[in-house]
Amino acid sequence: MRILGIETSCDETAAAIVVDGHSIMSNVVASQIDIHSRYGGIVPEVASRQHLLTIVPVISRALSDAAVAWENIDGVAVTYGPGLSGSLLVGVNAAKAIAFARQLPLTGVNHLEAHIYANWLSTPSHENNQITFPCLCLVVSGGHSDLVLMKGHGQLDRLGHTRDDAAGEAFDKAARILHLGYPGGPAIEKAARAGTPRLPLPRAWLKDSHDFSFSGLKTALWHLVQRENVLADPSLLADTAASFQNAVVDVLVAKTIHAAREFKARQILLSGGVAANRLLTERFLNSSPLPILVPPPHLCTDNAAMVAACGYYRFQRGLLDGYDLDIVPSLTIA
Ligand code: KG4
Ligand code: ZN
Repeated sequence: MRILGIETSCDETAAAIVVDGHSIMSNVVASQIDIHSRYGGIVPEVASRQHLLTIVPVISRALSDAAVAWENIDGVAVTYGPGLSGSLLVGVNAAKAIAFARQLPLTGVNHLEAHIYANWLSTPSHENNQITFPCLCLVVSGGHSDLVLMKGHGQLDRLGHTRDDAAGEAFDKAARILHLGYPGGPAIEKAARAGTPRLPLPRAWLKDSHDFSFSGLKTALWHLVQRENVLADPSLLADTAASFQNAVVDVLVAKTIHAAREFKARQILLSGGVAANRLLTERFLNSSPLPILVPPPHLCTDNAAMVAACGYYRFQRGLLDGYDLDIVPSLTIA
């Protein structure tokens, strides 16, 4: 089954064609980072206007890269939430128009669940991903940090979530405090390479809970920067970035492994933009007693291949949507 996936929940306009939920025929992502970085973050109105300009060329490109015609597409999957309203509307309406015009089945996909499905996509290093349920999924993106027990396709239990800032949001805000630019995750990771994680920063363990909290860490970072004049000293700046990254990674790794043990998971699946972080992946690989799966960085950040993969498993379960499919900006994972 060849699925066209469409993703416009945030600041990436993306379309992809994926066969049977794992083989990527094309994967086109038009990033708006250059446009938003001058404002230090995403401007929703600018994002939706940009989606309108790029959605048709991006979908056409996905078809031409895959060298397929419309007749070869078997279904359309589109992100309907969570995300920015104006952005989601562009993707959902494009998908509905295509489904109507081409008489194709349509399915609406939860963006957070789609992130998990990036682990089903085969890549040169993961030809045949063997995924065994139950698995413990850590979804860490710009807007969410969820710990999810996945017992099967469509069987998700959210064990914990962030009580304040998401992990990616914490990276973005820390990068702003450190004047490192947007998006913050890659900027902090780069700056941290030249540093040592020697500075004391707090970790919110929230014992007896699978929730996360990163706002205290952000505030502690802000106080450290004011107190030590970090911005004026490049070596201290690198140590600060490394210490911040280490604090986030410590909590994500320890709490995920703890939950995986508690719920007797067979595997740990990482996903979302923050899973592109090398320290996070290495730490998981070095300290987990369970097999770790993590998509390559370009499939961790927002893309439509993961939407098509998730959509395939929805079609398999007969989950179709009609032309009344609406956006749900505050959708949760479970
Ligand atoms: O999943 P994603 O592309 O979009 C959302 O659904 O939000 O995640 C974007 C987030 C941003 O906050 C970005 O700073 C973070 O992922 N991120 C990273 C890295 N690459 C992206 N965080 C840490 N290290 C990275 N290498
Ligand atoms: Zn995302």
